[in-house]
Amino acid sequence: MNLSKRRIPFQPSPLSVVKCMVELASPQPGDKIIDLGAGDGRIPICFALKYDDIQCYGIEISSDLVDLARKRVGKLGLSSRVKIVKGDLFKVDLSKFDIITMYLTPYAIKRLLPSLITALSTGSKIISHDFKIPGLSPVKQIVIDSKHKLYLYSSDSIPRNLDNLENSSSLLLKYSRSL
Ligand SMILES: C[S@@+](CC[C@H](N)C(=O)[O-])C[C@H]1O[C@@H](n2cnc3c(N)ncnc32)[C@H](O)[C@@H]1O
Repeated sequence: MNLSKRRIPFQPSPLSVVKCMVELASPQPGDKIIDLGAGDGRIPICFALKYDDIQCYGIEISSDLVDLARKRVGKLGLSSRVKIVKGDLFKVDLSKFDIITMYLTPYAIKRLLPSLITALSTGSKIISHDFKIPGLSPVKQIVIDSKHKLYLYSSDSIPRNLDNLENSSSLLLKYSRSL
């Protein structure tokens, strides 16, 4: 992925990686999953194809990619279970989702850090393709085809001094700025 600019480019995750992501997430019935920067919709689509008892969302800023993803969802008859939202991933309330997937730049992940920590503290799982969440320890990591990595995070990934997040927003802010 081109990391030189602050914008997040479209680079689709290979299907072998998406398949492992779905396995690693192992969603429970009723779970809500969201892919941040959904591109052509492949991640929410693959989740919905494997599990028919979860709700899948993708948020994407590019109108062309939103159209493409929605067309694919429609063709596959998944419209009742996969929603592709046109919007800004930085404005999503992540704590509403049980599983969050992302293939973003390190800069974007750092910007999202306070929301990611809050989501983890309320029980969400996060899977990041290729890039770690700074300052947090993945509970699992796997390598695919010798070059792609997936990192799984849960509430156990949060450093102990940030455990009680309800009462520690200033600590959280200080922490994310220090990374
Ligand atoms: C590296 S691609 C990943 C696509 C898909 N998640 C996958 O893994 O195949 C990142 C995506 O994020 C989208 N994106 C960039 N900035 C965004 C923003 N602020 N809000 C929503 N989507 C954004 C890009 O258009 C691009 O499709």
